[in-house]
Amino acid sequence: MKKIGKLYGIGVGPGDPELLTLKAVRILREADVVAIPKSKEESDSIALSIVKGAVDLSSKETLELMFPMTKDKEVLRKAREEAALSITERLKAGKDVACITLGDPMFYSTFSYLIPLVRERLPKVGIEIVPGISSVMASAALTVTPLTEADERIAVIPATYESEKLKDILRDFDTVVLMKVNRVFDKILGLLEELGLKENAVFIERCGGKNQRVVNSLDSLKGEKLDYLSMVIVKRGS
Ligand SMILES: C[S@@+](CC[C@H](N)C(=O)[O-])C[C@H]1O[C@@H](n2cnc3c(N)ncnc32)[C@H](O)[C@@H]1O
Repeated sequence: MKKIGKLYGIGVGPGDPELLTLKAVRILREADVVAIPKSKEESDSIALSIVKGAVDLSSKETLELMFPMTKDKEVLRKAREEAALSITERLKAGKDVACITLGDPMFYSTFSYLIPLVRERLPKVGIEIVPGISSVMASAALTVTPLTEADERIAVIPATYESEKLKDILRDFDTVVLMKVNRVFDKILGLLEELGLKENAVFIERCGGKNQRVVNSLDSLKGEKLDYLSMVIVKRGS
């Protein structure tokens, strides 16, 4: 019987190729196919540009997996099915496929949706995950913000939650990391102001990338079109 390939989920870190792990680099060098999840809106994959900073991909097959930026469940289901099918075809042909993910693959990542879909088609497939440095850890490092100390509690949540839930969380936790903040930034600014937390927050954009940005005065960002790769860290006690 023909040997099937192995599927790797590779975390490539937040943006700086130097933050790729040695293991990620080795596996990316050895894999037959590098799969790159991409949104239709993205012209170039940031995850791919990180990898290219450390690994020569010129002799490899690169497989773009297109995912629309939508909440439409049917459109998402179809895109995930198609991506899983493309990966499965290569695995069946005996090729090892390394699917790259910004940050960590087990943390708010499209890759995690593909795992059950590939397993459905190939129940015996070997899957290995290589953790990556998540944007949360990299942003805390960039801003020298200890996320938690002693018995403090942290919440990491999408900033797109409804306001009342966000307020409860901002009141409850010592540290709150608001992901996907770009489209709802002005609402978040209003909530932080209402809770007296505006001065305790820091905004981080494209952490680890060449054009990374840290903004402490959140008011200065009001009305600005912000990058999808941005977050706000709020520390209640500081
Ligand atoms: C779908 S999640 C991906 C998280 C990723 N798997 C990780 O471990 O960092 C996308 C969100 O992560 C955050 N993010 C990812 N990369 C970032 C970066 N380089 N700088 C700032 N925020 C980032 C942003 O809040 C963005 O909206």
